[in-house]
Amino acid sequence: MNESANAVSVRGLKMSFGDHQIYDGLDLEVRRGETLTVAGASGTGKSVLLKLIIGLYKPDAGAIFVDGEDVVPLDEQALRSMRRKVGMLFQGSALFDSMNVGDNVAYGLYEHYEWPPEKIAARVAECLEWVGLPGAQAMAPADLSGGMKKRVGLARALAPGPSTILYDEPTTGLDPFNTRRINELIVGLNDRLHVTSIVITHDLEAAFAVSDRIALLDERRIVLVSDIESARRAPPPRLAAFMRGEESPK
Ligand SMILES: Nc1ncnc2c1ncn2[C@@H]1O[C@H](COP(=O)(O)OP(=O)(O)OP(=O)(O)O)[C@@H](O)[C@H]1O
Ligand SMILES: [Mg+2]
Repeated sequence: MNESANAVSVRGLKMSFGDHQIYDGLDLEVRRGETLTVAGASGTGKSVLLKLIIGLYKPDAGAIFVDGEDVVPLDEQALRSMRRKVGMLFQGSALFDSMNVGDNVAYGLYEHYEWPPEKIAARVAECLEWVGLPGAQAMAPADLSGGMKKRVGLARALAPGPSTILYDEPTTGLDPFNTRRINELIVGLNDRLHVTSIVITHDLEAAFAVSDRIALLDERRIVLVSDIESARRAPPPRLAAFMRGEESPK
């Protein structure tokens, strides 16, 4: 199969932390331009999967193709240039508390481009405007609400112009207004910029609202992938059980 047909392609992934095995042959194909939700119980390895895709961890076995290139063997320098193409909104936002909002958003621009300060400032302003926080550059992360932090985290992920965006629980802990706003941003980015998105969420209503397909992570593998319409109409038994909060049927 041509690996570059998909934005992200995970094959035969195995990984353990000590004697705790997280994945045992996980496969996942993410099509270019789609929004794919990955659902799964707490501790099944959803966040680790996203961190593997951007090369923050190395698996014990398997390949992870991003735009056709296996990121597993890449060194730190090659990973840095790959990360220009893949933005990540971390669970908990992960803003740098010692920097103001503007410098947080500019972080990836300094990392990836040699732009003059005016161009960086213009891009930061554009991204903050886009997430509904125009003029927030001088604010300190400590003064932001949870919803604002997520939006700044999203502006930071967007700034370098990635073709794939990874969202780790973008709406967890947010009120309904901010949840809707973030979901609209995810959909809007997809429509306007044609990015590929991988969304980790426990909120299946949100998954139905923003995604093209949904995958379920369980028992160290992706056990099913379904298009959203079928998942909504007639969820496969394992997904239905997950949605009802039950143990998965064997
Ligand atoms: N750096 C690490 N060292 C050791 N164990 C880790 C490390 N990172 C994650 N784990 C373990 O790997 C498992 C998967 O973690 P992960 O954060 O991916 O779960 P998750 O599916 O994102 O859960 P949640 O829904 O609660 O965010 C957990 O058991 C976690 O304790
Ligand atoms: Mg997580």
